Amino acid sequence: MSYKVGYFVGSLSSTSINRILAKALMRLAPDDLEFSEIPIRDLPLYSQDYDDRYPPEARALKDAIAGADAVLFVTPEYNRSIPGGLKNAIDWASRPWGQNSFDHIPAAVIGASVGSIGTAVAQQSLRGVLSFCNARQMTAPEAYIHFSHDDFADDGTVSDSGTEEFLRSFMAEFRDHVQRVLTVLPRQEASSS
Ligand code: FNR
Repeated sequence: MSYKVGYFVGSLSSTSINRILAKALMRLAPDDLEFSEIPIRDLPLYSQDYDDRYPPEARALKDAIAGADAVLFVTPEYNRSIPGGLKNAIDWASRPWGQNSFDHIPAAVIGASVGSIGTAVAQQSLRGVLSFCNARQMTAPEAYIHFSHDDFADDGTVSDSGTEEFLRSFMAEFRDHVQRVLTVLPRQEASSS
């Protein structure tokens, strides 16, 4: 049995430290988690006007979530909140009304910042949004990563052993969380193999 994890990187930056963190998480995750990125870059800005004619990018977003067993959000903090591009993607996925892609999906949130609070405020904001969307969030451990290029190589290799062990245990807990949620709330389009 393995679990398909769709992951969101909340940054569109070509030098994103959160993308590096996502690479590190994939390196350190248990073997039975399979990852694929759910892209958000090409989504237009959401409007209810699209509800009866979703564009291909938004259809692809909803299909990707439907094909995942769980979602993982790796996000920066922008002005003490979620980057607009990520919020836009969530808004697309949550609609049309009655077709919320996040309903009951196992989810976790993590983020990296160059600032000392390590995206804590953005994550609180994101948790509120995901709560409204009825995602089944991992509540602990929390992970607020104060990013330094001394600790992370661009390929996601982690040189600081304490950070490496923490991220490994975060992903092990996430895996257990996914398994627990799916035990009581199997995905309708479950894709575990
Ligand atoms: C930031 N940054 C930032 N950092 C933080 O800790 N709290 C914040 O509220 C903000 N706000 C903010 C707004 C905007 C528009 C930018 C561009 C940046 C700094 C941020 O942590 C830093 O740029 C990271 O490198 C962003 O992550 P990515 O894009 O590299 O993954």
